[in-house]
Amino acid sequence: MSEDSKHAIVYGASGIIGWALVDQLLSLYPQAGTFSKVTAVTNRPIDLSDMYWPEADPQTPALQLVSGVDLRHGDGAALANSLKTKVDIESVTHVYYLVFTAVDDNLEEVATNRQMFRNVIDAHSLLSPRLEFVAFPGGTRASKLTNGYGIYAPGGIFTPPLQEDMVNNLPSDYAKTVVYTEYRKLLNAASEGQKWTWCEVCPDAIIGFTPNGSQFSLALHWAQYLSLYAYNHSIGPGVQNTKSALVEVSFPGNIASANSLFSPASSKTIARFMIYASMHPKKCGSGQLFNIADNEVPCKYGELWLRLAKWFGLVGKGPAETSQAQDNTFKAGELPQDTSMTPGEYVAKYRDAFAKNGCPNAVSRGVGAGNRQLDSVGYWLTFDRQMSLKKLKESGFEVDKDPAQGWLETFEMFRKAGLIL
Ligand SMILES: NC(=O)c1ccc[n+]([C@@H]2O[C@H](COP(=O)([O-])OP(=O)(O)OC[C@H]3O[C@@H](n4cnc5c(N)ncnc54)[C@H](OP(=O)(O)O)[C@@H]3O)[C@@H](O)[C@H]2O)c1
Repeated sequence: MSEDSKHAIVYGASGIIGWALVDQLLSLYPQAGTFSKVTAVTNRPIDLSDMYWPEADPQTPALQLVSGVDLRHGDGAALANSLKTKVDIESVTHVYYLVFTAVDDNLEEVATNRQMFRNVIDAHSLLSPRLEFVAFPGGTRASKLTNGYGIYAPGGIFTPPLQEDMVNNLPSDYAKTVVYTEYRKLLNAASEGQKWTWCEVCPDAIIGFTPNGSQFSLALHWAQYLSLYAYNHSIGPGVQNTKSALVEVSFPGNIASANSLFSPASSKTIARFMIYASMHPKKCGSGQLFNIADNEVPCKYGELWLRLAKWFGLVGKGPAETSQAQDNTFKAGELPQDTSMTPGEYVAKYRDAFAKNGCPNAVSRGVGAGNRQLDSVGYWLTFDRQMSLKKLKESGFEVDKDPAQGWLETFEMFRKAGLIL
């Protein structure tokens, strides 16, 4: 490897953002020749052929997939010893950290995730003298109690548009349940006096493909629901139903949630910005936080729903009139009693249809720990929570993508990977 060429290591490469990061690096973002090597690290075993990344060609960086790395075990030295037998860890210049594991107890969740990141940083501090940049995503969420901007508290905490400096004003009893605060302390201490620097990006809902399921993928959750709903109403993959009456599917939530403003981000946009930031350490480093979304203009789930349903040949409509759940007292994971079948319950009931129709992976690679929370998205997110993209734009990074585009591109990938019909 020449002095100028870069080696990116992506932890959590099978996750929503991690997959997109590797995808973008192999798609030659920011340009051919910037990275000569990409190492993709995952926890669960997975074959390269199941990842659906771009095929190798003479211009793409050399890719190495290292599976079975459980970061919860041991310490940084043990991780370093294990990695150096598999990976050219000494040449690593860029660390992208996209790992997250959900744990029932909030404080334990913080401790577990903090330890995993600490192991990674310690390992690279020991063995990667060429390290230049570390990037990780925070989020408007950070635990089941609260989050970066407090959107898990009923009604939210701050008045939108949410701005980066607000995260410093979280109520102190919440701060201890926010793992991102711990990540910042860890990186500040580890980078002091070193030649590498770091940044954090803050997405709200992330829309993107994962080959192996995901804990909190709203796109996968709704895609599997809409796919089975269309199948049960005799509508074929991606084909508009013409022979019978149009089939309607209600937004799984209440009116306030359908009409509240928010700023979704496709995993592609997040991945691109993380790479962009890491190429501009002076402008974007020093522990800065950047909000990230596809478009400065916020959108509404109620409007998006129509376009998502249409992709499956269905007609999206507003919340069911029968829903009594119009107030904003629900918390993450809570559902009104009058809800008929939620998307998660519907998928659980009918998922055999995936296997019967040649998509066995759709059964084993669905949504994990976040199922109930994703079912409740349409009930508790009843308040405006759009983000300011002023700082992002000032960094020189351009965003102006149609937010629905990220969903539809993701649905295409789910179908290609056999995760929906
Ligand atoms: N999803 C969202 O909408 C959203 C929104 C805002 C912020 N965020 C933040 O973005 C970050 C990434 O979340 P995500 O939703 O992208 O997660 P995700 O799709 O569930 O991916 C998590 C990744 O972490 C890896 N991982 C889990 N446990 C591990 C372990 N013990 N050792 C090594 N790797 C492990 C997983 O690997 P395997 O697949 O191999 O197990 C997977 O690659 C989190 O900090 C999250 O809070 C997410």
